[in-house]
Amino acid sequence: MTVFTGNHVLSVGQFDRDAIEKVFMVADSMLPYALRKKRTQVLDGAILGNLFFEASTRTRVSFGTAFNLLGGEVRETTGMSNSALAKGESLYDTARVLSGYSDIIAMRHPQAGSVAEFAEGSRVPVINGGDGANEHPTQALLDLYTIEKERKSHGEGIDGLNIAMIGDLKYGRTVHSLSKLLCLYKNLHFTLISPAELSMPSEICDMIVDAGHQLTITEQLEGSFDADICYQTRIQEERFPSQDEANKFRGKFRLNQQIYTKHFQSKTVIMHPLPRDSRAEANELDNDLNLNPNLAIFRQTDNGVLVRMALFALTLGVEDKVSDFDRPVHWYSNKGQS
Ligand code: CP
Repeated sequence: MTVFTGNHVLSVGQFDRDAIEKVFMVADSMLPYALRKKRTQVLDGAILGNLFFEASTRTRVSFGTAFNLLGGEVRETTGMSNSALAKGESLYDTARVLSGYSDIIAMRHPQAGSVAEFAEGSRVPVINGGDGANEHPTQALLDLYTIEKERKSHGEGIDGLNIAMIGDLKYGRTVHSLSKLLCLYKNLHFTLISPAELSMPSEICDMIVDAGHQLTITEQLEGSFDADICYQTRIQEERFPSQDEANKFRGKFRLNQQIYTKHFQSKTVIMHPLPRDSRAEANELDNDLNLNPNLAIFRQTDNGVLVRMALFALTLGVEDKVSDFDRPVHWYSNKGQS
């Protein structure tokens, strides 16, 4: 049985299906707080160290928002050049220092394995907000949570899912983590669509096959896919040796309403971890899909707050006490779900 309290969240490998169900159950209970129907002070006095040494919008802000919604405070550092890492300080020393200022730490760093290295020096739990091309476990959990909700709305579960993953499957850490989590389920069909140079790492393909799932690898977004989920990704240009190298692939797999209608079922759910590259030469997920009811990208971002609230509550051992510290919302609020 997975023990959450006091433990780091570094990799999806530490989750089994029971642990995932627990996270999702707690995430469900966070909805009234995220919708500002009520608020809680359960983490009053607690401090999150939100350390983002690589660019981020939604992961950084949603970690902070999730902690604030539980009543806690957030201290941040953003960018490598603004931190003492730029002066040669080790991850170990940084962790020793900052864990003295915080009750829990969320961290993103451009090097694979760096968050685990940092955690070795930390005196408080550390949550991985993305380490290079390696993993993005909280994104994978919110993606899976979204898949479960979307499937439930069609009266279906995750077992038997048919998923197409498109784009940069080599450097895209979200597809690595999501694939590993999906391997815990039964009878899935993965269709991996990417240029050969950006294909899914072989160890993850092996994991998919070893778990008994069907695997199709192709370079073409053509023919009719029976995908339930189309998971589009961005070319991770920041991980390429040069911008010119990245530009060879940007715009190769565009998805717009016309292509969607041609290649996918009318009920296929469109997901993307975001940010989508909306510049003309890439435009991997066209704005003309914004009115498509199966576009789940903003439901994903909303779900991210719920899942991160659940992880904070579980890791700090307050998941059963949240409503004991309820307060009314006394300002105008008309938030709905995306
Ligand atoms: N999905 C994701 O990690 O987005 P950010 O880079 O904006 O955090």
